[in-house]
Amino acid sequence: MYILLLLVGALFVPLRAEGSNSDQLKELLGLIQNAGPEQNILENIELPEDVFLNISQYLEKYGYPLETHQVETDDGFTLTLHRIPASKSISKNNPAVLFVPPLMSSSIDWLNHGSNYSLGLLMSDLDYDIWLLNPRGTRYSMTHNTLNSTQKKFWSYSFHEKGYYDAAVSIDYVLNSTGQKKVTIVGYSEGTSALLALAAARPEYNEKINLIVLLSPIGYMGGVSSPIALFLAKYMTEIKALFEGVHFHAVPYAKWVSELLVAICSIDGSGETCAAALGPLVGYDTEEVDLDYLLIFISDKPSGLALQELYHYGQEILSESFQQHDYGVVENLLHYGTPEPPAYNVSQITAPVAAYYAKNDFLASVEDVEKLLEELPNVADGYLVESEKFSHLDFFLGKHTRSVLYERVLSVIQKYNPV
Ligand SMILES: *[C@@H]1O[C@H](CO)[C@@H](O)[C@H](O)[C@H]1NC(C)=O
Ligand SMILES: *[C@@H]1O[C@H](CO)[C@@H](O)[C@H](O)[C@H]1NC(C)=O
Ligand SMILES: *[C@@H]1O[C@H](CO)[C@@H](O)[C@H](O)[C@H]1NC(C)=O
Ligand SMILES: *[C@@H]1O[C@H](CO)[C@@H](O)[C@H](O)[C@H]1NC(C)=O
Ligand SMILES: *[C@@H]1O[C@H](CO)[C@@H](O)[C@H](O)[C@H]1NC(C)=O
Repeated sequence: MYILLLLVGALFVPLRAEGSNSDQLKELLGLIQNAGPEQNILENIELPEDVFLNISQYLEKYGYPLETHQVETDDGFTLTLHRIPASKSISKNNPAVLFVPPLMSSSIDWLNHGSNYSLGLLMSDLDYDIWLLNPRGTRYSMTHNTLNSTQKKFWSYSFHEKGYYDAAVSIDYVLNSTGQKKVTIVGYSEGTSALLALAAARPEYNEKINLIVLLSPIGYMGGVSSPIALFLAKYMTEIKALFEGVHFHAVPYAKWVSELLVAICSIDGSGETCAAALGPLVGYDTEEVDLDYLLIFISDKPSGLALQELYHYGQEILSESFQQHDYGVVENLLHYGTPEPPAYNVSQITAPVAAYYAKNDFLASVEDVEKLLEELPNVADGYLVESEKFSHLDFFLGKHTRSVLYERVLSVIQKYNPV
C-alpha cells in the first residue's frame, strides 16, 4: 500500500511543485482526476454498505451520539477531537479514554469495524467516555494559525509532534472538560510512537495518565522485517532528495484518492489481492483479515500523511535507536543543541503501560517490543498474541481480534480505570 500511496502521491507533485515543468505528470493527473471525481471510478463496483461513511454518518446510523471539540496546540495547529459521551453519564464522571490513531488515519478507525469489533465502540458500550484524536495534517485537523497546507513548514512533523503537542493538549483538554484527574490513552502503531514520545519527553504527563495501552508498539525499530519498510529505509536519502527536489512533502486527504484506492482494492471482487499486496508491508495473514472491513478501512485513507513521518521511521530503522527526528547536523544544533538527535529515555515513562504485540507483525517485532518492555519501569501488562500468523493490521482488521486480544485489553483497562 505504501508503494501504491507513493505512486498516487507522486501524482500530486505537479500540483504542489509550483513552477516545475512536469507537464506529462500534469496530463496524467488530469486524466486520473477526470476519471475520478464523477463517481465513474466506483460505477459497477459492489461495495460493503458502510464504505465512505464519515464519522458523523457512521455514528448516526448506529445510534451513537457525537460531539466535536477543537483544541489548539502550543505550536499553532487547531485539532478536532471527536467524542462519544457516556450515555449514563450524569455527573460527567464516567472514566475517559483518549484514542490516538495510526499513520494516515483519523478518528473513525477506532469505530467503523462495528460494535463487535471496534475497540472504541466496545468501550463506549461499557459506558466509557470516548475521546478520539485527529492529529495534525489529518482530514479534520488541517488548520494552523499562521501556516497553510500548501507550505512545506505545515508538514514539518512526525510522530514526535503528534505526541509532544497533539496528544498532550488533548489530554489537558479531556481532563479539564471532564473534571477527572487521569485519563487512559490508547494508541495503535504510529499512535504508540506518539504516546511513547510524549511520555518520555514530557515526563510530567505521566501524572495525568492512569494507563497507556499500546497496540503494536513502535518504539525501537531495529528488528523491522517488512521488506517494503526496509527498502524505503535503505533508499531514504535518494527518495527524500527526489521528493524535496519537486517540493513534494505530503499526501493530504482527498476523496478521489480514497475512491481510487477502494476501486483498486475491489478489482478482484473480494479484496483478497489487496490484502495480499499489504503482506510485504505488514505481515502476511490474508485469512484473518476481514475483507469487507478492509474496504471500509481504506475508504478513509490516506487521511493525511506528511512524508517526514516516513523519513523519521526510516531513520529509526537505520539507527536502531528510538530517537527524535534527524534534521542534519546544523539544524540539529538549532533544534536540540546537539549534533545528533536526542534518544527518547523510555525509563522516564512512569505511567503504567500495557503493550500488545504479535509474532507475525513485520513492523513491531517481538525483539523490539521486548527490548522496550525491559526498559519501561511500570509494565501493567505485556502480552504476545498467541496466534503464529497475527500481523500488524490484524490489531484492527482481524476477524477474531476481539476474542484473541481486545477482551484482555478491556479487562486491563477496567482494572486501571474502572467504569
Ligand atoms: C459527513 O458528511 C456529511 C454529508 O456530506 C456532512 O454533512 C458532515 O458534516 C460530515 N461530517 C464530518 C465530521 O465531516
Ligand atoms: C456480535 O456478537 C454477538 C455475540 O458474540 C453475535 O451474536 C452478533 O451476531 C454479532 N453481531 C454482529 C453484527 O456481528
Ligand atoms: C497559503 O500560503 C501560500 C503561501 O504563503 C499563499 O500563496 C496561498 O494563497 C495560501 N492559501 C490559502 C488558502 O490561504
Ligand atoms: C478549562 O475549562 C474551562 C471551562 O470549563 C475554561 O474556561 C478553561 O479555559 C479551560 N482551561 C484549559 C487549560 O483548557
Ligand atoms: C533516563 O532516565 C532515568 C530515570 O529518570 C535516569 O536514571 C537516567 O539517567 C536517564 N538516562 C539518560 C541517558 O539520560
